[in-house]
Amino acid sequence: MGITAIYPGSFDPVTMGHVDIARRAAAIFDRVILAVYDTPAKSLVFTTPERVAMATRAVSDAPNISVRSFSGLLVGFAREVEAKVIVRGLRAVSDFEVETQMALMNRKLAPEIEVVCLVTSLNYSFLSASLIKEIIKLGGPSEGLVPDFVAEALQHKLARKGEVAPVPRWLTG
Ligand code: PNS
Repeated sequence: MGITAIYPGSFDPVTMGHVDIARRAAAIFDRVILAVYDTPAKSLVFTTPERVAMATRAVSDAPNISVRSFSGLLVGFAREVEAKVIVRGLRAVSDFEVETQMALMNRKLAPEIEVVCLVTSLNYSFLSASLIKEIIKLGGPSEGLVPDFVAEALQHKLARKGEVAPVPRWLTG
């Protein structure tokens, strides 16, 4: 049977930081379900099917990582898929506060489920989906921070909304 872990988040969009955490979790647990929350309390650029599609493509070469969307309580979804572990990535002290509060609340709701936080790799410790959105919106480069197809999808989305600035001179030479 083995241990199933879920790695929940908004993934709007998935970044290399997320992929790194998902892969490292997949090296520890038997299977990892990357769980895309469908209604986070923030304004989203991508729909739930789009977020799921991008995350699925980003981890497609990892046989024990699958991607699902969920609604409602995280612990409800964890129980539904019989996950024993919730995985979260930790970047900085600011993450620690938020993550501790969520972990304690989730434990209160579902004491049988353990929360495991993985510290992000140094390369991605400054990375966040919202910063990526801002950089692409302002015409900056995103190589190595998100998969290429995510950067393209973001440019496409933001261009349609009229939000992508022209590529700056220093980038094109
Ligand atoms: O990527 P994010 O936005 O930091 O992910 C936050 C997420 C989706 C993990 C969190 O909002 C969540 O678990 N939402 C599901 C609803 C829920 O269970 N809320 C109570 C959390 S203590």
